[in-house]
Amino acid sequence: MRVGVDAIGNLRGVYSGASEGRLIIGSHIDTVPNAGAFDGVLGVMIGLALVEGLAGQRLPFEIEVIAFSEEEGVRFRKPFLGSLALVGGLQMDGEIAQAVRDFGLDPELIGEARIDARRVIGYLEFHIEQGPVLDEADLPLGVVEAIVGQSRFGLTFSGAANHAGTTPMGRRRDALAAAAEWVVAVEAEGLHVDGLVASVGSIQAFPNAGNVIAGEVQVSLDVRHRADEVRLAAVKSLLDKAVEIGERRGVGVAWDERLNQPATQMDAGLVSLAERSVPFKMVSGAGHDAMILAPVVPSVMLFVRSPGGVSHHPDESVRAEDVAAAIRAGLALLNEIAKRYN
Ligand code: HGY
Ligand code: MN
Ligand code: MN
Repeated sequence: MRVGVDAIGNLRGVYSGASEGRLIIGSHIDTVPNAGAFDGVLGVMIGLALVEGLAGQRLPFEIEVIAFSEEEGVRFRKPFLGSLALVGGLQMDGEIAQAVRDFGLDPELIGEARIDARRVIGYLEFHIEQGPVLDEADLPLGVVEAIVGQSRFGLTFSGAANHAGTTPMGRRRDALAAAAEWVVAVEAEGLHVDGLVASVGSIQAFPNAGNVIAGEVQVSLDVRHRADEVRLAAVKSLLDKAVEIGERRGVGVAWDERLNQPATQMDAGLVSLAERSVPFKMVSGAGHDAMILAPVVPSVMLFVRSPGGVSHHPDESVRAEDVAAAIRAGLALLNEIAKRYN
């Protein structure tokens, strides 16, 4: 393969074919903290395994395998940086551009990372399911027909730091107590709205000392649903709730929206081709780079069973026989696509 690194650090290899049409197979190689060993990187390895599996056979199109440098949004609080570069959606701003330079790359060359959508016949992403559906159905693989929409926010609760021993309870503007009341309300929204998941995964209190009433608290918000109107209504309800709690407690509330990613349908043609070898369709509760590619090129994902439904945790695992099945299904899909390529 012809291998290179683009200006956002995506590692990209091209396996030539009989034309300049290009099929992209990719996933990400960054992880969340305390992660498992398969989220993202398994999809890159399966892409390489498919090229190896061709054993020198040339298809009517090129195959580009891409290891996206950043998808989770942990480091810069904005997700999908690697795949956004392919579709021209990346804001190469201060801290990201500096990290790119520190890595020895030139942020000015980010335009070269962009794909020519007219030449790309499709995008395939293999990924662990990260949830319980395939495991409970006792199935090794699934075809993703849609990915739920996702909202991410950072909120700041601003009260008044003071002495924990001398400040009467009735005279406090406790930012941590206000944030805690809101976190429970986030969980309640997720429990009461059908099909919604709503999570607060990160909280930082300042000055974060046991004998000081917290003056400021920063929390995350992650809300997802397959219907955008339901997700956006839940976000509005939760932000309104934060304002109500803040007013009642004399605590200021501010927020910044970090992601408003609409629910994304996969390509019906590719889904039905994939179904020939993987007769099980499902919706993804996790976000993926395929959400960024799908509006631009026909895209489909194949999920590999997550035993126990565990992910974003060191206990994340896969079964070797399921990965072997994914490679077989992937080769069958490549050949179905090749048969139809003209
Ligand atoms: O958060 C997600 O859904 C994915 O792991 N980036
Ligand atoms: Mn992940
Ligand atoms: Mn992932």
